[in-house]
Amino acid sequence: MKTTTVLITGAAGQIGYALAPLVCGGHATGRDTRVKLRLLDIAPAAEALDGVKMELEDAAYELVESVETFVDADEACDGVDVAIMVGGFPRKEGMERKDVMGKNVAIYKAQASALATKASPEVKIVVVANPANTNAGILMRSAPGIPKENITCLTRLDHNRALAQLALRSNTPTRDVRNAIIWGNHSSSQYPDVNHATICGKPAREVIADDVFLDGEFVDVVRKRGAAIIKARKLSSALSAASSVCDHVYDWLNGTAEGVTTSMGVVSDGSYGIPEGIVYSYPVTCSGGKWSIVQGLTIDDRSRRLMDESATELVEELEMATQCLAEST
Ligand code: NAD
Ligand code: LMR
Repeated sequence: MKTTTVLITGAAGQIGYALAPLVCGGHATGRDTRVKLRLLDIAPAAEALDGVKMELEDAAYELVESVETFVDADEACDGVDVAIMVGGFPRKEGMERKDVMGKNVAIYKAQASALATKASPEVKIVVVANPANTNAGILMRSAPGIPKENITCLTRLDHNRALAQLALRSNTPTRDVRNAIIWGNHSSSQYPDVNHATICGKPAREVIADDVFLDGEFVDVVRKRGAAIIKARKLSSALSAASSVCDHVYDWLNGTAEGVTTSMGVVSDGSYGIPEGIVYSYPVTCSGGKWSIVQGLTIDDRSRRLMDESATELVEELEMATQCLAEST
């Protein structure tokens, strides 16, 4: 059986607490892979992190080779094959995700060099902390030695939210809903697109037969789901975020099923007229440990406008982040 070394940053936080057990159970890397787990947090959280480690040990996972804790990024990144970057600060009620930019982008610039110098040369990175696309963009620019294709951000949570809303509306199990697309930013400008989605193999628009809902309320609910959870829990999503991280990593490593597309924040190569170099959520398939953007989809005028609006926000966010970093040095 092969062994994969997985890093979780921000592991003493609420996503970390939901994610670490899933990773130990093989939900990210697969039931055929042993896991060496490395948990990183900041020094004030060291004791809490030790508590998480004790619990993981007590759960006696069959697939786990070792669990180690760190407060130093260089040490934590040593030999890492998969890096799940959760470390950072969540937004609170009333904030947009980019409002945590000042605090969070600096972390991604700092941790880029640890990943570039210490992690495996093929390390696969998924950035979860917000603003996720822009943090990934900063990491990419701060670690030019890491292939851009190996740095992604999480929009699988939005993708799963879209599937769930279509399932609820059509009174169908989620497993029968496929190929919704999240275009753009993991923010309220994202475009959840149902034009290529299917329900039980039929076009979702045909099955739901309510374009007013699909073009209005559906888009709004998916875009604002994170805020709705913060309002209800007074904390941002954690179990659904953790579960979606596992879906993202699992599909990247093990491949998407035939005929199934997912959504990942990946570096734009200009596909669908999106500016090159920004980290943009696209429809992708995965095979042999690599993702590919699904090409050739028909894009109507409304979709074009919504895709471009989110791209414009991402270009602006990256400029703001670069400025934040310049001002802090
Ligand atoms: P949390 O506050 O519970 O945990 C974050 C942890 O990160 C804390 O333990 C903190 O000490 C740690 N941390 C801070 N700076 C660090 C650093 N430099 N290195 C390592 N660890 C560091 O927050 P949470 O609810 O777990 O959320 C974490 C992040 O994920 C937030 O930014 C949140 O907005 C984001 N998020 C993203 C998605 C998504 O879909 N992309 C979904 C949910 C949450
Ligand atoms: C989410 O989508 O649930 C997270 O990004 C947390 C947030 O701030 O919305």
